[in-house]
Amino acid sequence: MPPRNHKNWLAKPKVQAISSKCYNNQVIFDMEIEQIFSKVWIPMCHISEMRNKGDFRTTQIANKRVIAINVDGNNVQAYYNTNDIDIRKPSGTYTWDFATTEKPLHCEVKHGGMIWVTLDPNPTKSVEEWTAGAFDCIADAIDTEELEVFHYHKAVIPTNYKLWHDTNSEFYHDFMHYFNRVTGFNDEYFARKNIAFDNGHVNVSSFTVNYTEFDKEGDRGELSFPNLPPNQWYMVDLFPGFNFNLRGSAYRSDAVTPLGPNSVLIEFRGYGLKKDTLEERQTRIKHHNTIWGPFGRNLHEDLIGVTGQGVTMRVGTEDRHILHGRHENHTIHDEVGMRHYYSEWGKYIDMDPYHA
Ligand SMILES: [Fe+2]
Repeated sequence: MPPRNHKNWLAKPKVQAISSKCYNNQVIFDMEIEQIFSKVWIPMCHISEMRNKGDFRTTQIANKRVIAINVDGNNVQAYYNTNDIDIRKPSGTYTWDFATTEKPLHCEVKHGGMIWVTLDPNPTKSVEEWTAGAFDCIADAIDTEELEVFHYHKAVIPTNYKLWHDTNSEFYHDFMHYFNRVTGFNDEYFARKNIAFDNGHVNVSSFTVNYTEFDKEGDRGELSFPNLPPNQWYMVDLFPGFNFNLRGSAYRSDAVTPLGPNSVLIEFRGYGLKKDTLEERQTRIKHHNTIWGPFGRNLHEDLIGVTGQGVTMRVGTEDRHILHGRHENHTIHDEVGMRHYYSEWGKYIDMDPYHA
């Protein structure tokens, strides 16, 4: 076959792919806000962040300011954070009598104590129905004991929010991660399966990670989450961009807040068990931060990766197609997770992502 010229490179490939416009078009972005983020359940924060009456967290869902608050010491409600409330802080304690506030948003506490909120005034699915079994693989690990947030940080990245989903969905970029290369690239790793669930969700089956290959003291077996064999690594990718990542002794959640076609806020939380001793908690924090902390060997590499990907697809760059045509019996490098996600995405905004 002769080498490709420029025209060949721009031709639409005859394999499964999506247009780069999905990542940089303002009209598409506005549709995503209205037709996806205004409709779905959003895992906005965690119950351990609001144990006492009046404790709150604020966020932004589909460009609307939202607050979740412990209204009476036992129950969490969510509201639009405007007019009567209008709190301009990320967290704190508030003494407003919420019983008199009209129209609370639909809110549920589910899946390891996450607080789920939807702006949809008439949701057709409960959180359980929405997540459709995607959490089953880690349910016994995150729902047996109460969890507690021990780590929070956020990043505003100049890229499209879907690239954060993508980096959590495709695993061939794992070759970029030194930590993953030395601890994980064994036969079991390459046999991991991507398992698709209704509503665009996917989870990734586990395997035994050799943590001591990175750090002789790094074995995580002793502090494994409940009902979890030692040194496992499960991932749950929820449509449209929420990731739950359980590495043996530490659990992480990512929540995206799209700010524009080329801007996303990502919030990262790390969790341990509420019953942890001080020593256990310190070990979990070390395990968490070794990979996912600001000086860890994994998370910031992903942030750099998606920033670079975003640069190549900004407004003004030439349109191209991103291939998702890899089929390998749903094993770790099969792009079934990407195809599943973009198929659901296309339904929500009534657009074929290939022809966008
Ligand atoms: Fe990664």
